[in-house]
Amino acid sequence: MTTWNERFETGHAQIDAEHQEFFRQLQALKVAVEAGAGRERVVELIGILQKYVLGHFAREEAHMARVACPALGANCAAHRDFALKLDRWLEILTMSGTQVSMLLDVHRESISWIEAHIINIDCRLRGCSSKEPAP
Ligand SMILES: [Fe+2]
Repeated sequence: MTTWNERFETGHAQIDAEHQEFFRQLQALKVAVEAGAGRERVVELIGILQKYVLGHFAREEAHMARVACPALGANCAAHRDFALKLDRWLEILTMSGTQVSMLLDVHRESISWIEAHIINIDCRLRGCSSKEPAP
């Protein structure tokens, strides 16, 4: 499991703290799945993650807009894609029997997505956030 480290620093303290919380919630999801948590608990954890992530995306997009970060458009598009993924996962989990392998796929895909996303898109804030106050 990858944990947050300075490779993921965007240079913006609140956004970095929210990314750390994202990693913590994904770890909690993995621990729950590995401990054999039932579908209801897993759906609940993904629901918590979804709520948190949507709030984070909105705050991060607002900050990027404030500092005119050139990655804003790409960030909004990537956020929409991930939000749809979360919707689909919740839909599948709500409708059918939970397969542990699928839950671990959700976790693995989420981790891969967040790592690549932070490094390739969010870290582009490094060049534009230092002059601006925190939101
Ligand atoms: Fe982002």
